[in-house]
Amino acid sequence: MANKSSTDTDELLSKLDDLFTKAKANIKSISSKEELELERIRYTGRKSELTSILRGIKDLSPEGKQAVGSRANEIRIQVDQLIDQKRDQLIQENIEKLSNAEKIDVTVPSQLKNGHQHIISQMQAKIEDIFQRMGFQVVYPYEIDTDYNNFQAVNIPEGHPARDSWDTFWTEDDHIAVTHTSSMQNRVLKSSEPPIRVIVPGRTFRHEATDARHEHTFTQVEGVYVDKGITFADMLGTLKAFFSEFFEKDIQIKFSPDFFPFVEPGGMISIDVSDFGDTFKEVTKGTGWLEILGCGMIHPKVLEMGGIDPNVYSGFAWGFGLERLVMPKFGIEDVRHFYKGDLAFIRQF
Ligand code: PHE
Repeated sequence: MANKSSTDTDELLSKLDDLFTKAKANIKSISSKEELELERIRYTGRKSELTSILRGIKDLSPEGKQAVGSRANEIRIQVDQLIDQKRDQLIQENIEKLSNAEKIDVTVPSQLKNGHQHIISQMQAKIEDIFQRMGFQVVYPYEIDTDYNNFQAVNIPEGHPARDSWDTFWTEDDHIAVTHTSSMQNRVLKSSEPPIRVIVPGRTFRHEATDARHEHTFTQVEGVYVDKGITFADMLGTLKAFFSEFFEKDIQIKFSPDFFPFVEPGGMISIDVSDFGDTFKEVTKGTGWLEILGCGMIHPKVLEMGGIDPNVYSGFAWGFGLERLVMPKFGIEDVRHFYKGDLAFIRQF
């Protein structure tokens, strides 16, 4: 009996040691607080392995009960301590991880590229600067305007066939996304006394299919010059001077007659791009002349509607597409590059 009892005691003690060894290894490998709590229940809770080993204790001698009981108690306390230590360690590791994530090494060189103005904005600023030095003021257009300003005030009454030259976006309340910066001519004439020298750079909109030369949204620069005795030669001289400044070399220009209801005579000006590289030879179909703007002497009716006496004053106006000028300057063959948001393109300038 004593023998059996001591065997049972030894057996239970060695089961306890196995359990403790297993618990130590398990606790060591745990990596989350949740697992750790499960482990605590597993080893020390009411339905734990420890409790089930202790169930055998009732058959032992009093010495055996004493030995197994106190060993079990020690193990319970030690497992609890190990679990507490492990929890502290996990918490500490977590704090370190969080603070490492927030650490910023200010000595690492920046990978960010600085932003810069879009090429069209840069060139608009350059153009404004050139004309300001020539004595022009800069006025910006409305992007949404009335039929009156976009058409009627520049001698295109309702139903006039010339309206077909401008494919128009209409708003629901019959306003217009301006089709040209000529929409500002009437306001400019009405609001100032000659001499008037104004340019109007701004966005214009046309309801048209896009291709390498045409965008539905583009930038125009309008010019209006009114004074006593202004002639066609003044217009050619002003524009030639501007182009030569813009391209930073002497630019040849050519005038060909064309019709716009708000000028008389009116026409197109082309510039000589024969030495701008092959891309532009193609665009001009081998002629070397690139059509760049519409212009002419302001129609007497337009001056009148602007409150200016055409018997005393005369003037000229032009409108060019800014993108059309930037393309030959930088050898850009497709107008659609400008606004498609391609960073590789934009960063070149
Ligand atoms: N507004 C015209 C256009 O957009 C250009 C132009 C302006 C022509 C001024 C003559 C005078 O086509």
